[in-house]
Amino acid sequence: MSQTYSVAILGATGAVGTELLTLLEERNFPVSQLKLLASPRSAGKTLTFKGQEIAIEAVSAEAFQGIDIVLASAGGSTSKAWAKAITDAGAVMIDNSSAFRMDPTVPLIVPEINPAAAADHQGIIANPNCTTILMGVAIYPLHQIQPIRRIVVSTYQSASGAGARAMEEVKQQAIAILDDQTPPTESFPYPLAFNLFPHNSPLQPNGYCEEELKMVNETRKIFGESHLRVTATCIRVPVLRAHSEAINLEFDGPFDLTQAREAIAAAPGVELRENWEENYFPMPNEASGMDDVLAGRIRQDISDPNCIDLWISGDQIRKGAALNAVQIAELLVEKSWVKGKAAAGTAG
Ligand code: A2P
Repeated sequence: MSQTYSVAILGATGAVGTELLTLLEERNFPVSQLKLLASPRSAGKTLTFKGQEIAIEAVSAEAFQGIDIVLASAGGSTSKAWAKAITDAGAVMIDNSSAFRMDPTVPLIVPEINPAAAADHQGIIANPNCTTILMGVAIYPLHQIQPIRRIVVSTYQSASGAGARAMEEVKQQAIAILDDQTPPTESFPYPLAFNLFPHNSPLQPNGYCEEELKMVNETRKIFGESHLRVTATCIRVPVLRAHSEAINLEFDGPFDLTQAREAIAAAPGVELRENWEENYFPMPNEASGMDDVLAGRIRQDISDPNCIDLWISGDQIRKGAALNAVQIAELLVEKSWVKGKAAAGTAG
């Protein structure tokens, strides 16, 4: 018997929230009822789902009654504040924030990598950090052939990671700078337009910022390799919505480049995109709006025969956030790891 599910989007008005709405419609997720939740600021505004206007509600504990799946993307403090109300209501929370990612009782899932880990959920499943998802999808096919021993990654992260307001701010900054005016800097500490700077997440005593340590710790958890050696440098760049990453991978022995290309080309969620004659490789403007992570420029590291380099671009809002969350919801449905309701007309 087919099932349908009551779904709530917490943070429905945000950059990821609106993409979640689009994806539920595009992928024809079996939704019986959709609730759009945000802060009281947005209450009463409407968004459209399958041609129907749905009013946004201010989040409250009552709003989760009768809901089966909550897709949350309203920041860590909002997720922490509402997690108990969500699980008490019997719903599964797929949380896009970092609030629960490293909690040992919470599965951290990329469906192309560790889907089975979602079976053990206790009401909360965490959606990994965007740069971690994009890198993981691209390099996991290689890790399956020959275990990766060390990852050195540098990121080129777009404004969208800081939300819809930050994306708008970069546009305003560009206009202001072109007009010889002082650019507004509310979402970011410094102007991002025509500039770049190390990721603006809090610095830790060891000199890494939080974003860099997320890449280290979350990659280990998703790959199930607690000692995997990872180092990251995360940089914000004036791109609107797709992140790029330069990745160096070390193996125990040489990795055949043809095999690497074939593995990436065949893997789900990643597309090999390289044309060496044309010097054409993944670019964030082409990755924007795409489901697959683009990977290319795969080459031998001339400084070490056991290492290879590659370059990726992936849509931070899609695979880096909303798409991965919806794929987790699809996984729960496919495996019956979430309760639903009999679809109208098929009950009995
Ligand atoms: P709102 O638009 O009402 O502020 P982004 O990551 O693009 O900045 O989006 C953040 C999302 O999280 C928005 O939908 C925002 O709603 C929502 N949000 C922010 N703070 C809260 C809160 N305290 N309670 C509920 N939703 C919140």
